[in-house]
This record gives sequence, C-alpha cells and structure tokens, in this order.
Amino acid sequence: MPAWLQGKPLRLAAAAAICLFMFLAGERVSARGAAPSKATQEDLSKAMHGEAFAYAQSLLFADHARRQGDTELAALFENTAKTERFEHFAEEARLAGLVGSDAENLRTAIAGESYEAATMYPGFARAARAHGDRAAAERFTEIAQDEAKHPDAFRAALVRVEKKTGAR
Ligand SMILES: [Fe+2]
Ligand SMILES: [Fe+2]
Repeated sequence: MPAWLQGKPLRLAAAAAICLFMFLAGERVSARGAAPSKATQEDLSKAMHGEAFAYAQSLLFADHARRQGDTELAALFENTAKTERFEHFAEEARLAGLVGSDAENLRTAIAGESYEAATMYPGFARAARAHGDRAAAERFTEIAQDEAKHPDAFRAALVRVEKKTGAR
C-alpha cells in the first residue's frame, strides 16, 4: 500500500462518523429548537390564544351555516378551523414547548383551571354584576363552579400518573 493511502480508510471512516454525528446532533437541535426569547414566547402565547379562538369560532360559524342549510360554507369554516388547530396552533405550541410529560401537563392544567375557578371567573362575575350585566354575571358564576371541578379531576389523574411513572 502506498504511504499516502496508509491510514486513509481510517481517516475517511473517522470523518464520516464525525459528519454523521454532527448531522444527527443538528437534527436533534433543530427538532427541539433553541428556547425562544421571552418576547417571542409572549407573542407565541398571544398567537396560540388567537388560533384557539379562531378554531372554536370557525366551528360555531360552521354550525350556524349548516343549520341555515349552507353545507358549502360550513365545510369552508370547518376546513379553516382544522388549519388553525392542527397546523398553526400545533406548530406554535411546539415552538413554545407547550406540551411536556403527562405529569407536567397535568400541573400546567391544574394551575390554569385553578386560576379560572378561583380568580378569573369570580372576578369577571363581580365586574359584570357591577356593570348590571346579570346574564353574563350568572354565566361566569356557573362556569366558575364547573371549572372548580377540573383541577380535582386533574389532581386525581396526577396521583395516578406519578404512581405509574415515579415522576415528581
Ligand atoms: Fe391561523
Ligand atoms: Fe376548564
């Protein structure tokens, strides 16, 4: 074997291994993505709230169109709703790192539902009453009572999940 070729297969194999490692590491980094800045996280949160609202709104609009007998318009609203939910919201949620382990998701849900039940809806009910908006005040009060059941159900699920996974 000529001298210039000696050790070459080894060098080539090493170079290939390094390339493969960098490629796989790069794939992992791009899949996980760098954590967005605080400002971008806030924009992602606003965007997700908008997409979630657009999804629910489009489905209500679709129901209305269907009841009016306009199935073509209903389908337009339903297809748009799917894009908001399964593409826009899902992609933003991935960037924001919204979904964690089951235990983390349950803790996030418990915090959100508890805030709605104990703070947000009672506050909205008081404000609506103060403004003379009785129907809204009653609805907010009733929804607050519904919301209060959700953290309990999630807490029970968290106990079960932690037992199963040993997660803390
Ligand atoms: Fe959208
Ligand atoms: Fe809820």
